Amino acid sequence: MAFTVAGQRRICTDFPNGNDYLVVAEINHHYWGIARRHYALAMEYRRLGSSGMYVSEITYGNWITHGSQVEQDAAAKCVRAALDSGITTFDTADVYAGTKAEVVLGKALKGVRRESYELLTKVYWPTGPGKNDRGLSRKHIMESVHASLKRLQTDHIDLYQFHRFDYETPLEESLRAFDDLITQGKVNYIGFSEWRSEEIRAALKIQDEKGYSRFVSSQPQYSMLWRVIESEVDPVCKANGIGQIVWSPIAQGALTGKYLPGKKPPAGSRATDKKGGANMISRWIRDEVLTAVQNLKPIADQVDLSLAQLAVAWVLQNPNVSSAIIGASKPAQIKENVKASGVKLSPEIMRDIDRVLGNLPERDSSKTVSPKPRA
Ligand SMILES: NC(=O)c1ccc[n+]([C@@H]2O[C@H](COP(=O)([O-])OP(=O)(O)OC[C@H]3O[C@@H](n4cnc5c(N)ncnc54)[C@H](OP(=O)(O)O)[C@@H]3O)[C@@H](O)[C@H]2O)c1
Repeated sequence: MAFTVAGQRRICTDFPNGNDYLVVAEINHHYWGIARRHYALAMEYRRLGSSGMYVSEITYGNWITHGSQVEQDAAAKCVRAALDSGITTFDTADVYAGTKAEVVLGKALKGVRRESYELLTKVYWPTGPGKNDRGLSRKHIMESVHASLKRLQTDHIDLYQFHRFDYETPLEESLRAFDDLITQGKVNYIGFSEWRSEEIRAALKIQDEKGYSRFVSSQPQYSMLWRVIESEVDPVCKANGIGQIVWSPIAQGALTGKYLPGKKPPAGSRATDKKGGANMISRWIRDEVLTAVQNLKPIADQVDLSLAQLAVAWVLQNPNVSSAIIGASKPAQIKENVKASGVKLSPEIMRDIDRVLGNLPERDSSKTVSPKPRA
């Protein structure tokens, strides 16, 4: 958490190992940028939408990695690196790695003071073969939340999210189930992922009419290359106190510059992961995109950031973004990417990035979709 007092900045970090709010530095504002990059202790925190809960500007998420690409030992090292870097927010989902990702995260966080971190998970995608093992029916929500709590070894979830919109379940049924979970104390806050603006508006109307708890967060894909929320979803959210917790800010690794045009992907990278990662990142592994990413390098150099840091810093320039969810298969990636927290990019740098990327960024709001019929 950062407080600005008459040109001075006091950085307080809630260390998850038990030391509460340790004041680690008080630095003249002028030297702030330099100090941040060299000492890298100071994660900044933002309120999640209009809620009272703070999240770290950078969240660590475990899609594709935990329980699939990397196993418990490597996952535990990444979680430790995240905690040591000031990350307090962790995102997972019931469906990741066929439910194994929650188990891995639960084990990795065991022993960490529960109040010192925020746990986010989701419900919607199939977790079993049955017709009721999916979607947003009351039955599946209630069964899935209990299974998630067990796998995560906790008695509450800080943010529970609809992982997509369900076109089969009456919206009121899903919203009431989420509201009941808040009343029961199993869930603190609620949100959704990849909902369209009209779906968000319809849900807010029901929540207000019925007196249900309102959404405080939205989890869309957002990066320099994928800007589809900017015209519709983001404005509705902003007007309603809903913060964005955005996924794939470095386009699954494509914005790090490690994938070179015309060259084979580096061994061990997501683009070589046959368990699913290679398929997921394939949209970005094309020469046109990879050449543009290489052309961003001089801009990153100008502000003394790596390409990965520039990509994460770019999403954090949007004030309605509460947090950027990074993935990582190795602790070193986390240590590098967290240094994007607190970075301010000038309007000139933002314009230079746009100039290099040209027409590559996707901006079409109709690309926000949920499966029809339900997955
Ligand atoms: N709501 C949804 O529908 C949804 C969908 C997708 C993701 N998410 C959430 O968002 C999280 C992040 O997604 P993501 O993993 O795609 O995010 P990302 O941060 O864009 O990509 C992460 C991957 O990029 C590579 N990487 C990261 N930092 C690097 C560095 N400094 N140098 C080189 N390579 C680096 C690593 O892959 P390799 O080392 O394997 O190459 C890493 O696993 C997920 O874990 C999940 O929590 C949500």
